[in-house]
Amino acid sequence: MIELQKKIDQVCSVLANAVHDYAPVIFANSLGAEDMVLTDLINKYQPSIEMFSLDTGRLPQETYDLMQKVRAHYSVPLKIFFPATQTVEKYVALNGVNGFYDSVELRKSCCHMRKVEPLSRALAGKRAWITGMRREQAATRGVLQVSGLDADNGLQKFNPLLDWSNADVWKYLKQYEVPYNELHDRFYPSIGCAPCTRAITPGEDIRSGRWWWENAQNKECGLHVNKISPIKQV
Ligand code: ADX
Ligand code: SF4
Repeated sequence: MIELQKKIDQVCSVLANAVHDYAPVIFANSLGAEDMVLTDLINKYQPSIEMFSLDTGRLPQETYDLMQKVRAHYSVPLKIFFPATQTVEKYVALNGVNGFYDSVELRKSCCHMRKVEPLSRALAGKRAWITGMRREQAATRGVLQVSGLDADNGLQKFNPLLDWSNADVWKYLKQYEVPYNELHDRFYPSIGCAPCTRAITPGEDIRSGRWWWENAQNKECGLHVNKISPIKQV
């Protein structure tokens, strides 16, 4: 309990420093468990931080239900960014609505048009952004820092929950009665788009339900990859 409070205090101080040094600051909110901790803390302690979700158009119904709850529960508005209509129409005409299953390249270009490009619009004019990434989630996240320059997007990036464990996240959500995605109770520890996320079995890696048909090293969507490798545009 004391341990959790210490971690909460540390997050609050990271958020306060972000606002002090880098306003305007925006929080990228996927509505996953970690992001619900940040939603709650930002609304309580740093409501000048804006928040946004990237609605890919392919999210699970449970994520939309949670978006609606967040709207009712919290005062900071959740801005929604959509992909560019014409890009999606062109992709679908060329590759089909589910073309992302056909190759890693088509999967990455789908993530690019539905997440990465809208992200650049969401971050425009901001001096820092906040994510809910944790070190434990993936080997690729082990090297992250709580605060660092995001050279690709040209602004500061904060990962205030970096050293939280999964247990810390759930302790917080339960203790403060924070709403969360119902899919978490059905063995979905990590939730993305509906067609690219599935439940895992106990003992499996927490991100193994994401893009489950791909090799582990491909499993990033491009939102957090430095020096994004060239992606064939559609
Ligand atoms: S992903 O790269 O595999 O999709 P993950 O789901 O682990 O990322 O989420 C990591 C962080 O990226 C989240 O805590 C959140 O800050 C941001 N993020 C991911 N998806 C979205 C989204 N749809 N909208 C806003 N932020 C997102
Ligand atoms: Fe497209 Fe799947 Fe990426 Fe969502 S997770 S943007 S549906 S490839």
